[in-house]
Amino acid sequence: MNNVGIIGAGQMGAGIAQSVAQAGMQVMLADVDLAIAEKSKAGIEKALDRLVGKGKIDPSDAVSALGRITPVADYAPMTDAELIIEAATEKEPIKQAIFAEAGKILGPDAILASNTSSIPITRMANHSPDPARFIGLHFFNPVPIMGLIEVIPGLATAPETTERMRAFAGLLNKQVVEVQDEPGFVVNRILLPMINEAVFVLGQGTASIEDIDKGCRIGLNHPMGPLELADFVGLDTCLDIVMVLYNTTGDSKYRPAPLLVKYVEAGWLGRKTGRGFYDYTGDAPVPTR
Ligand SMILES: NC(=O)c1ccc[n+]([C@@H]2O[C@H](COP(=O)([O-])OP(=O)(O)OC[C@H]3O[C@@H](n4cnc5c(N)ncnc54)[C@H](O)[C@@H]3O)[C@@H](O)[C@H]2O)c1
Repeated sequence: MNNVGIIGAGQMGAGIAQSVAQAGMQVMLADVDLAIAEKSKAGIEKALDRLVGKGKIDPSDAVSALGRITPVADYAPMTDAELIIEAATEKEPIKQAIFAEAGKILGPDAILASNTSSIPITRMANHSPDPARFIGLHFFNPVPIMGLIEVIPGLATAPETTERMRAFAGLLNKQVVEVQDEPGFVVNRILLPMINEAVFVLGQGTASIEDIDKGCRIGLNHPMGPLELADFVGLDTCLDIVMVLYNTTGDSKYRPAPLLVKYVEAGWLGRKTGRGFYDYTGDAPVPTR
């Protein structure tokens, strides 16, 4: 694998681009416009500089990894990509429109993968150019640090596509769990109900933001509390995933916590907007309630 296209240059697209470039592959990075893809590359440069500063990678490796990332204005340059990874906003109509556009340039052997957190792969494959070459490739945030990829074949995905994605994960030095196409796959199916419940607990006034997180950090030995983690994932993404679990199963146990909905309506989306359950505008995060 030498050439990878990435569509969606937000926190996940940037992390995937960095990891793929560090593994020696060429990356073409697209978003809704060139300026966003360029800004994303500037963010990757900072992330690589931090790794150099900590002595984790050589300065020359950082320069060559960055040199392998090309922001692009549209998908035309991705004609030679052997793999295109969609990492755009977790909204099905947005993803469907991307698959239709990507279908116009997807090479005859190339694979189209989605980094969706929760949308059914089989259903999205039906809107893709070739369902046999469509697959879920679920990375974890922050991608350069997290060592897992969930590989999710849809009903029509060819076994060869799954094998090629296992090999790709190996190139990135990541472990794979292969998961059937069920809502939320494995990790989010377990994680999101916990985050959602933490927001119910907060909304009912049972404990403060700090104490909910402290309780889970110390009592469960989790590295982060659920509300800190929600801010890190993005509250809009959390709500989108909970809604997919709720709508696809019809099970009321997945109904979203009203306070989570309110925070998203307020535009308080977590770290990426400077405010979620914590305020990130100062030197250290401060609880907002
Ligand atoms: N945040 C996480 O922890 C996490 C983890 C695993 C998977 N995911 C999934 O990754 C995907 C992206 O999430 P994120 O956290 O990076 O979100 P984000 O909001 O940081 O980035 C989304 C990006 O998609 C771009 N975008 C929107 N419409 C587009 C279009 N039509 N064409 C190209 N780009 C478009 C946006 O401009 C934005 O830059 C989602 O499907 C999400 O569920 C997120």
